[in-house]
Amino acid sequence: MRTKATLHGLPVYQPGKLLEEVKRELGLDEVIKLASNENPFGCSPKVWESLAKEREFFAMYPEGDARGLRLELADFYGTSPDRIVCGNGSDEIVQMIARAYLEPGDQAVMADITFPRYKTMTVVEGAKAVEVPLVNGVHDLDAMVEAVNEKTKIVWVCNPNNPTGTVISHTELTRFLSRLPDHVLIVVDEAYYEYVTDADYPDTLSLLPDDPRLIVLRTFSKIYGLAAFRIGYGIASPELARELEKVREPFNTNRLAQRAARTALTDQDFVCNCREANRKGMDQIVRQLENWGLSYFPSQGNFLLLDTQRPAQEVFDVLLRQGVIVRSGSALGYPTHIRVTIGTEEQNRRFLQALAYALEKPIPKEAAR
Ligand SMILES: Cc1ncc(COP(=O)(O)O)c(C=O)c1O
Repeated sequence: MRTKATLHGLPVYQPGKLLEEVKRELGLDEVIKLASNENPFGCSPKVWESLAKEREFFAMYPEGDARGLRLELADFYGTSPDRIVCGNGSDEIVQMIARAYLEPGDQAVMADITFPRYKTMTVVEGAKAVEVPLVNGVHDLDAMVEAVNEKTKIVWVCNPNNPTGTVISHTELTRFLSRLPDHVLIVVDEAYYEYVTDADYPDTLSLLPDDPRLIVLRTFSKIYGLAAFRIGYGIASPELARELEKVREPFNTNRLAQRAARTALTDQDFVCNCREANRKGMDQIVRQLENWGLSYFPSQGNFLLLDTQRPAQEVFDVLLRQGVIVRSGSALGYPTHIRVTIGTEEQNRRFLQALAYALEKPIPKEAAR
């Protein structure tokens, strides 16, 4: 039996290494995972209490269309619930978009290198992924406009971009949109939106009412610390949202995930504190990299892609043996880089210590504490 031709040669997604797996394999007691851009501070403590209340409903299906969550998100953003579609992670929204819009022969334009699911889902639907190289880690919007033709159905923009963390500004985005034809759907993936502190970052939601081609993706997996629950959402025109509803599984987001997300949304203090801690952690790491003369991409996310000037896999292995899991750039298309998630102050210190050891750099005073 053969699967459909579009799957041949398609790689299986390789997630970051699991904490427990590394502990077991290397016989280490203490391991820190800075590989998947998860929130090192967990989630709002309010989530715990709210989940207990769901116990009596375990035998019942959840709201298929996550109506309660969509109402609260709509209220939060000052928009209407019929513009919002919830997914089993924003990963699922990526899949739903590709399923709803792409057919064999179509094309989808995206950056090279960016979040890999855009390409995978494009290829699975039999469409062609047209990849436009980043320039200095940033989307080359002019070249992306040029790559669009009559076959192009979707343009994917990851902002901040994973894995580089770079952003495009509001002015750059609006100019880009003004140059794209009407037949193209534009997906702006803002998975790391809540971490951004750059004042020029786009207010993409404000563009939605006037642009039926646009869909914005956000998630509860990152700053809200709910990656295990798998819940994300897209915001678009009601017409576009309705098309996605057609390909959505009937009960795609589960009851606990919906409850966790609704509660997390009410704790914006937690979100602010995490954003602030992330900025401090980013500074802590960047300062040391600059002392060592190592270059990195300026990141607005909760991760940093840095050039170790060595084969990334070797650095990854040395870090791993010291109980620090990062993401090797060799799997991401940057053979001498590693991507590290910003951790707590203590985790960042341990990472810097391990990196100093791996690269034979002087151990920083601060990191040695
Ligand atoms: C840019 C980007 N988009 C989407 C996702 C998927 O997130 P979710 O957990 O909501 O599926 C990720 C996860 O790392 C990401 O980096």
